[in-house]
Amino acid sequence: MNAVHTPALQSRLPRVGTTIFTVMSALAQQQGAVNLGQGFPDFDCDPALLDEVDRALRAGHNQYPPMAGVPALRQAVSAKIQALYGRHYDAEREITITAGATQAILTAVLCCVHPGDEVIVLEPCYDSYAPNIELAGGVVVRVPLQPGSFRPDFTRLAAALTPRTRALIVNSPHNPSATVWTAAEMQQLAEVLAGTEVLLIADEVYEHMVYDGLPHISASSIPSLAARSFVISSFGKTFHVTGWKVGTVAAPAALMAEFRKVHQFNVFTVNTPMQYALASYLANPAPYRELPAFYQRKRDHFRQGLAETRLRVLPSEGTYFQPVDYSAVSSLPEAAFCEWLTREVGVAAIPISAFYENGFEQGIARLCFAKRDETLDEALRRLKKI
Ligand SMILES: Cc1ncc(COP(=O)(O)O)c(C=O)c1O
Repeated sequence: MNAVHTPALQSRLPRVGTTIFTVMSALAQQQGAVNLGQGFPDFDCDPALLDEVDRALRAGHNQYPPMAGVPALRQAVSAKIQALYGRHYDAEREITITAGATQAILTAVLCCVHPGDEVIVLEPCYDSYAPNIELAGGVVVRVPLQPGSFRPDFTRLAAALTPRTRALIVNSPHNPSATVWTAAEMQQLAEVLAGTEVLLIADEVYEHMVYDGLPHISASSIPSLAARSFVISSFGKTFHVTGWKVGTVAAPAALMAEFRKVHQFNVFTVNTPMQYALASYLANPAPYRELPAFYQRKRDHFRQGLAETRLRVLPSEGTYFQPVDYSAVSSLPEAAFCEWLTREVGVAAIPISAFYENGFEQGIARLCFAKRDETLDEALRRLKKI
């Protein structure tokens, strides 16, 4: 028999379906809603950055770059980390350019997690962490952040550590709660991990979005954490170019050597002209140094407007997200509330429950304020009606 036949496969990720981000964005588009759901800017990046891309393209930087990334970009990243966080990473051996933070996190997990190893995530957490661990054959161990405040619970974290714990994934500034870990909390993390063989995957993609004069305490700034960490960032977030998918990883040479083994046979390398453009653009620190003020103004404008609605505005210490408690408006579960808000009010939001494995309900939705003032104002106009 010569019938056309697609062989059946057994899914490596049987529980993964369409993500809430895709569902809400599609619904937002269908309903003509203001999309404050998915986290990306609706404004363009600095034209000076586009000029750098144009220059790089026309200078002929269009073939494969070195596997670990364009040296000038790795040097610029190393200098930036040194200036901001005081740790020296050797650009040659300890910095790698990745296809966004997403690939960096997956590669970090794949290079260190063996089947049966436990990896701790702190819930609520970014949706790629658990599937990444499962792809590596690891066991996801979920430790909740404290309900209400979303602060880390070090007693529960310490209790979750076992001899099989291989890694811990931490994200500050935190998506979706918009909390930022304090220096004391980072120090406590260092103490909890002291004497263990646990590796830290520090997802710091929102490192430049921290408000009210708070510092971002990078894992790279605490020597005992830096020694066990893959520290990950994203140019997409920092420079308003989420579609470029260019990120960075910094790690001690011994860890980075393993990271690069997986990176080499995964993406191999990341698109060349963007790397040259970013290397030149990084020569000026103003764009990332001014980012907190840029977003803080938007955050404050948005919060002022929200104060005139029946939504209760929760703290937003960092990231470009604003969590709101809607319990005065509705007793619907979070996903149903966000769907209602999109359909009936015309504003798309993301339920915090989507960042928990068991859909923990707190009556909180996440709104993204990385939007033009007109977009925020239109969303506020609609939200004032509920
Ligand atoms: C916490 C967190 N980590 C990682 C990423 C992915 O970053 P990138 O777009 O650079 O892959 C995101 C994007 O939303 C995020 O919120």
